[in-house]
Amino acid sequence: MTDRPIARTAPIAPAAGSTIQPAIQPAIQPAVDPFGRAITYLRVSVTDRCDFRCVYCMSEDMAFLPKAEILSLEEIDRVCSAFIDLGVRKLRLTGGEPLVRKNVMSLIRSLGRHLSAGTLDELTLTTNGSQLVRHAEDLAAAGVRRINVSLDTLDPNKFRAITGWGRLDGVLDGLAAAKRAGLSVKINCVALKGVNDDEFHRLVEWCGGEGFDLVFIEVMPMGEIGADARLDQYLPLSMVRASLAERWTLEESDYRTGGPARYAVCRETGGRVGFITPMTHNFCESCNRVRLTCTGTLYLCLGQEDAADLRAPLRRSDEDADLVAAIREAVSRKPKGHDFVIDRRRRGPAVPRHMSVTGG
Ligand code: 5AD
Ligand code: SF4
Repeated sequence: MTDRPIARTAPIAPAAGSTIQPAIQPAIQPAVDPFGRAITYLRVSVTDRCDFRCVYCMSEDMAFLPKAEILSLEEIDRVCSAFIDLGVRKLRLTGGEPLVRKNVMSLIRSLGRHLSAGTLDELTLTTNGSQLVRHAEDLAAAGVRRINVSLDTLDPNKFRAITGWGRLDGVLDGLAAAKRAGLSVKINCVALKGVNDDEFHRLVEWCGGEGFDLVFIEVMPMGEIGADARLDQYLPLSMVRASLAERWTLEESDYRTGGPARYAVCRETGGRVGFITPMTHNFCESCNRVRLTCTGTLYLCLGQEDAADLRAPLRRSDEDADLVAAIREAVSRKPKGHDFVIDRRRRGPAVPRHMSVTGG
């Protein structure tokens, strides 16, 4: 499989004589799970590789996947398009770091056709920001309106210590480029006890000033990372919130982005501050999403091993019938929820795969 750029395709027109408006309803029955949750959100990890080595995400000696196992950009496009036909309205590209994949912009431009056609509401990206200087303009031109950027600290030394290989300056330049390009930015900050817990006030202030939303995330037990790092760094967001409340007025907000974050508005900065609490609060009831890895494995829940292989049906035929059947079969066994526990007795991760496999 090559990573040739994808040829730009014109928006797909409805068949002659068709009365179905793709902008209003999907052509075929949407995929709904056994608990009545319609699957409207697909997250796609386009690569397991990353130019950073965040302590909570990867071990130093990560083994990456051989190329033959990775879906080509054309194949990723095909799976995404099949999901859109089945009712997905929001696509998020993740990694690893999505922008380190060769020619990824051609995939993003190609997926943008679904935005123009009205069959997709949103195309977004979760990125570490390292490549944004180069790509921000192109992302905006392709129809991307919002991006999530991971940033746990504003201190250059700490940034290097957390990300292993990252440079804070590069990410700050990338964020400035994103702003210039008109992209809305949400900062993801993993709360780490003894690492960045002295910076939360500063992050609220800085994000407020920049016009970025800020979302705190509890560290999740995913993938073996060596030592008991996560156990020591786990910080419940109830404590983060309590400490923020000493200085800021956080007013409850019903703003939702379709994700699991609960938001408040900070009265002093006017900025939104969100909290994702997979460890202390179960947010599965309203889960509308599934996750595709770069090898074509579809995970039905971030915290469970239930999965389906979509690569085999994808490669078996140029027709999408098998692929669509495999997607439906998978969605029909989406589990009710996850059960993360950071457990001192059990040690080790709750889920063996790393976050860089399913991309958060
Ligand atoms: N727990 C919580 N968040 C994590 N991320 C990566 N690994 C973990 C983990 N173990 C975050 C990244 C990024 C998002 C996709 O997930 O910082 O912001
Ligand atoms: Fe890379 Fe994101 Fe994992 Fe950090 S958290 S190593 S930026 S994939």
